[in-house]
Amino acid sequence: MIVLLVTCLVALLSPSVHSAGSSAEWCYHKPECDYTHWPKIAPKFCNGSKQSPINIVTANVQGNSKLTSFTFTGFDDNSTFISITNSGDSVVVSLDDEKVAVQGGDLPGVYNTKQFHLHWGNGSSSSGSEHTVDGKQYPIELHIVSVHSKYNGSVSAALAANDSTGLAVLGFFIEATSEQNKTKSWDILTSFLTSIPNSGSTTTDIMDQITLDSLLEGVDRTKYYRYQGSLTTPDCNEVVIWTVFKQPIKVSQNLINRFSTTTNFKAANTSVLMTNNFRGVQPLNGRVVTSQVVKSTAPSSAATSVLSIITVLLLSSLCGM
Ligand SMILES: *[C@@H]1O[C@H](CO)[C@@H](O)[C@H](O)[C@H]1NC(C)=O
Ligand SMILES: *[C@@H]1O[C@H](CO)[C@@H](O)[C@H](O)[C@H]1NC(C)=O
Ligand SMILES: *[C@@H]1O[C@H](CO)[C@@H](O)[C@H](O)[C@H]1NC(C)=O
Ligand SMILES: *[C@@H]1O[C@H](CO)[C@@H](O)[C@H](O)[C@H]1NC(C)=O
Ligand SMILES: *[C@@H]1O[C@H](CO)[C@@H](O)[C@H](O)[C@H]1NC(C)=O
Ligand SMILES: *[C@@H]1O[C@H](CO)[C@@H](O)[C@H](O)[C@H]1NC(C)=O
Ligand SMILES: *[C@@H]1O[C@H](CO)[C@@H](O)[C@H](O)[C@H]1NC(C)=O
Ligand SMILES: [Zn+2]
Repeated sequence: MIVLLVTCLVALLSPSVHSAGSSAEWCYHKPECDYTHWPKIAPKFCNGSKQSPINIVTANVQGNSKLTSFTFTGFDDNSTFISITNSGDSVVVSLDDEKVAVQGGDLPGVYNTKQFHLHWGNGSSSSGSEHTVDGKQYPIELHIVSVHSKYNGSVSAALAANDSTGLAVLGFFIEATSEQNKTKSWDILTSFLTSIPNSGSTTTDIMDQITLDSLLEGVDRTKYYRYQGSLTTPDCNEVVIWTVFKQPIKVSQNLINRFSTTTNFKAANTSVLMTNNFRGVQPLNGRVVTSQVVKSTAPSSAATSVLSIITVLLLSSLCGM
């Protein structure tokens, strides 16, 4: 019963966020269906003007005082990981959306958290994050996907509504550290990859030693970029409020390597290691990226020195010096 329910959940939820859905076949690894062809394969949205990912140009980021801290519910709960699945184009961990939620940070309401998945390159030889910052691509990007509570946990309902605030995705960069076996949680998580080598394989082995907090260790979650965008896989629906955190999660290189050496893409009668499962950056088309950062502290420190000179002069004259 539980297995059936989970299988059903996986079947219902994962594809809507991370597979082709109604569109024709798309892929990462073949020249005839890689992301350069998605605007033709799935033109309804992939050819839109608010697509993700993007390159974040830090010099053009505008300050936004509404980007306050988030409230993360259930991120410290070790009973929320339902299953880990090879979706054929990523590795997806389904979460118990009755226990996990995100709000605050200028999101318009409460968002129930459905799953997280990752995009990666090819070990240490090439990076695979989707967003880039001033052109810099990180080794891996983690996406935590949540749906507005008005859709009662249904991602497909949010997609059907074509609601630009339907989903909230939190993006975290992962960077390599030379420290061996850094972060026990990433060791545990990546150890499950050998159980899901092929598309469609899944394990419901309970991961009760891991919490979302433990995977996000070391990241200051009050510092992030915000912009309006899309799913990064077909149908590329423009329904995502994006949050991209500035500080990367640090994971040791040997654990990063597990992603590109263990699981296979969905491919007919052959095994192709899942590598470089990311979409290239898309045009900004006038969109503005915002952040907490109040730009240029230099003028204010200049102003401070002017002020202190004035104060000294004022004091001097008051004291008759
Ligand atoms: C994509 O949109 C552009 C205009 O925005 C249009 O010129 C082009 O033909 C479209 N391509 C496809 C495949 O629909
Ligand atoms: C990934 O890297 C390995 C060794 O570093 C190499 O043999 C393989 O061809 C690479 N795969 C791709 C798709 O670039
Ligand atoms: C969500 O549930 C509420 C109450 O149970 C219902 O009124 C509403 O129509 C549901 N919305 C969707 C999108 O299913
Ligand atoms: C989706 O919504 C956007 C505005 O948010 C609109 O421009 C677009 O035409 C809509 N697309 C569809 C297929 O309804
Ligand atoms: C790191 O983990 C591997 C197995 O996952 C183990 O063989 C190795 O001894 C560990 N290294 C350190 C420094 O703990
Ligand atoms: C999971 O959390 C519960 C309650 O906080 C705790 O008692 C339990 O030891 C944890 N399990 C593991 C494997 O860490
Ligand atoms: C893969 O299987 C299909 C039929 O399912 C067949 O037509 C094709 O030739 C096979 N390709 C290879 C490389 O074996
Ligand atoms: Zn993603």
